[in-house]
Amino acid sequence: MAIFNLKKLLLKKDITKLIEGLTVSMGVDVCIKDSAGTMLYGTGGDYLSGLPITVDGKTVGWIYGENVSKIAAMASLLNYIVGAEVQKKALAAETLNKYSELTMLYDFVEKVNAFNVKEIAEFLIKHVSEQIRADNVSVMLTDEITGMLKLVAESGGESGNGGAQMSAFGIAGVVMHSGKAEIINDCRSDPRCAMETGSVSSLICSPIKAKEKALGIVMASTIEPFNYTADDLNFFCTLVSQAAFAMDNARLYESLKEAFIKTVYTLAETIEKRDPYTGGHTKRVKEYSVAISANLGISAGDKERLELAAVLHDIGKIGVSDNVLRKTAKLTDEEFEEIKTHTTCGRDILSYIEELKGIIPGVKSHHERFDGRGYPDKLKGLEIDLIARIIAVADTFDAMTSDRPYRKGLPFGTALQELRKCSGTQFDPTVVEAFFKAVDNNKINPENQEKIIRGDNNDACNSDSR
Ligand SMILES: [Fe+2]
Repeated sequence: MAIFNLKKLLLKKDITKLIEGLTVSMGVDVCIKDSAGTMLYGTGGDYLSGLPITVDGKTVGWIYGENVSKIAAMASLLNYIVGAEVQKKALAAETLNKYSELTMLYDFVEKVNAFNVKEIAEFLIKHVSEQIRADNVSVMLTDEITGMLKLVAESGGESGNGGAQMSAFGIAGVVMHSGKAEIINDCRSDPRCAMETGSVSSLICSPIKAKEKALGIVMASTIEPFNYTADDLNFFCTLVSQAAFAMDNARLYESLKEAFIKTVYTLAETIEKRDPYTGGHTKRVKEYSVAISANLGISAGDKERLELAAVLHDIGKIGVSDNVLRKTAKLTDEEFEEIKTHTTCGRDILSYIEELKGIIPGVKSHHERFDGRGYPDKLKGLEIDLIARIIAVADTFDAMTSDRPYRKGLPFGTALQELRKCSGTQFDPTVVEAFFKAVDNNKINPENQEKIIRGDNNDACNSDSR
């Protein structure tokens, strides 16, 4: 842990004011020195009584005065302030660390020219089928967890033999192992083809190799006997080697993307931990949002944006002070204004990460209201991003139904009635309908909700949804 700078803390105006006020009201003269004996506050007298100021058991300074009982109260207050300061700094450092990890990761991903593995496999199959006689063409890749070959794409549909080819044994396993392409024109008489089904007569099979590593295999086969030639094999292998490099990149990109998403989730959890009453809130908001979106027919890209925005919708709370965020009593107007800044603060944070710019409208506008009375921009109706309109419903429903230390959450049915009441005013009616459809389809129900750790709460639709 870094050395705590007591001098810097005592130079803060509010801290100096606090100490001055206390010394006057308690009628006591004090001086404060650091652990090396340098005077930091007061002029100093020849005091006999001194009490330590500590951080994690280590003395960082001393408070001196004429009367030990009077300085004891000040010493414990100083210890409390020092402890809070240390905690605040640790949290800020942790958040900054996570943040730079995240940007570095995405900077790297951006530089990798990557494609989707399945798309490359389908592209390859299309070209092989056009150029080489085959009833079935399949691409199998090694599963990174099980190490088994797994079918990624195939042509030939029902009549194809992709299921049988998924075996890591048989000819697929042989080619994978040897790293050498093979032509087998009479499968029935080749014992290595024992695992292939009886519907295959001839086949051509090549490993997918990138950087000397076999990623999987590509196999083309015919039902009737066929005479594959060396030219076929040449052409086949050229296509496969072209695809192999792109596949290797794509796999790397996909695993980085997975790591990125995990980091995003960790970041969201770090933020959630600051507020002890929101346990599981992020997870539930994401699940409700996904359940709603299933009834709105949104695109796969929007679904991905929605999931990330739902997880990060309150990321701006990094900028809200602990005493406001952790306050259990009703917030003052001033405090509520501070809470409201989490929407624009969220926008500012996300604007630094190229790949997360797309989710800014969802995060920034999740407290806008359909009737234009929300914040931060008082947007109205369809001016509000659809993702934000979905998160608004999911966020408020979870807030309504969750317990807080000072009150119970609303019962599931009552919260549904509240949601219905606020449809068209606070919420987009289409999104509310999609929510009710998800309830009817049992995608959202009290049992599912109970399964996730409970936490955050809200009075009703228009209460302190933070
Ligand atoms: Fe929020």
